[in-house]
Amino acid sequence: MKRDRIKIDLLIHDLKVPLAVIDAGISSLLKREEKYGPLTEKQKKVLMRALRNTKITQALVGDALEIGKSSEGILNPSRFTISDLVRQSLVEIFDLSNSNTSEKVKNCNDLLELREVLEGDGLGLDVDERTWCEEVCLDEVKIRQILRNLLNNALKYRKSRVELSIEKKDDALFVSVKDDGEGIPSGYHEKIFQCYFQMNGEEACPVRGHGLGLAGVMVLVEDMGGKLYLESDEGAGACFTVKVPLVSKR
Ligand SMILES: Nc1ncnc2c1ncn2[C@@H]1O[C@H](COP(=O)(O)OP(=O)(O)OP(=O)(O)O)[C@@H](O)[C@H]1O
Ligand SMILES: [Mg+2]
Repeated sequence: MKRDRIKIDLLIHDLKVPLAVIDAGISSLLKREEKYGPLTEKQKKVLMRALRNTKITQALVGDALEIGKSSEGILNPSRFTISDLVRQSLVEIFDLSNSNTSEKVKNCNDLLELREVLEGDGLGLDVDERTWCEEVCLDEVKIRQILRNLLNNALKYRKSRVELSIEKKDDALFVSVKDDGEGIPSGYHEKIFQCYFQMNGEEACPVRGHGLGLAGVMVLVEDMGGKLYLESDEGAGACFTVKVPLVSKR
């Protein structure tokens, strides 16, 4: 690893401790009123917003380190169920945009209930019961980052719907994220995977981004030995499919 890269990664890494202190501080102010005194509704609102944004920053720090790790080709396979992977990713996504849905996702007891909650947000979940309960062996942090980025894009660029499909076939996991938005003309199918590239900059979407998500997704998918397919055309929505080989059971 280049010396400069190590120094940057170390700086990012060292952000974790002060962020954890901020997180713990705000959380205890909110949770332990008997110790710190009662809060007004307005104070609670401000603190909750600060906490949410601390969590966003923590997630970003994690993502930044994961990308660095990935470019070194380091994989950390572990065993987990598809249901844990999807639920955890959805909680992370909705924690930032709609904490109500995030709470509901956390409290769902089964696939049926989860489908119902997600339908309320225009998100379809297509996975069969057997795959849902199945245990797989993969680098969970990386696959979660991939899923989170693709879902965030689809939710950001959709008109009204997103479909998430998950399938296990021939020792590989297929994850598709499809939306009904403006789509991506074929001339842009390679460019959107370049760092900092955005098709229409900010005017396309009120939510700001950096044009980094898909470049990161590509690095992570390749490092997992996988492939990414894009089906899309102008005005026809977009469908990103990731195929990653499952690591053999150890
Ligand atoms: N589902 C989609 N529908 C239409 N355009 C998309 C979609 N996903 C990505 N794009 C286009 O590809 C560009 C690059 O996507 P990418 O995820 O890398 O960046 P971003 O979402 O703009 O910012 P961020 O760095 O926050 O992810 C986007 O700016 C957008 O123009
Ligand atoms: Mg993005």
